[in-house]
Amino acid sequence: MQQERLLKVLVIGDLGVGKTSIIKRYVHQIFSHHYRATIGVDFALKVFNWDHQTVIRLQLWDIAGQERYGNMTRVYYREAVGALVVFDMTRASTFQAVLKWKGDLDAKVALGNGRPVPAVLLANKCDLQHQGLCTKGPKLETFTREHGFVGWYETSAKDDTNIDAAITCLVENIMSRD
Ligand code: GTP
Ligand code: MG
Repeated sequence: MQQERLLKVLVIGDLGVGKTSIIKRYVHQIFSHHYRATIGVDFALKVFNWDHQTVIRLQLWDIAGQERYGNMTRVYYREAVGALVVFDMTRASTFQAVLKWKGDLDAKVALGNGRPVPAVLLANKCDLQHQGLCTKGPKLETFTREHGFVGWYETSAKDDTNIDAAITCLVENIMSRD
């Protein structure tokens, strides 16, 4: 018999790092250079077969970067079972904010057994890598382990690099917990 699983996943990170673009790429296979800041929260749904018995309804909560300064995240985070934490490879300040987002997440939501919700780190805009920044592979590997992320990926919503891989990694992690 087929079963359906509804998974609420948060997409968080500073202003303009590409959260909305990642979701649009993943769900609709589109990309635009035009930037319009998300206000509050936005939603997207992707439904797909996981295995012979299971259909996943993946509900992506696209949290506005500016919400880090607001009081609503506690409400938005409720019942989430996973998160994508995104930074912009070309802006160091957005990498520094990653731990603030992860801290906010872990302070406000946890799994039923009290463990933190699985989170994957996305170094987005890797198509602009030549514009430099801080983080190279090995460093991120250590950072990921030290701060309790279940994995990390260099992604590009523009070129469609590793978006599927990152989200699949998160879903695998979520599904392996029950
Ligand atoms: P807020 O809603 O304000 O929190 O921002 P956001 O994280 O949703 O960022 P958004 O997806 O709106 O992208 C911001 C800008 O970055 C837009 O101009 C996008 O076109 C651009 N952008 C997003 N992802 C990529 C990428 O992978 N590569 C490049 N080159 N640009 C990107
Ligand atoms: Mg947005």
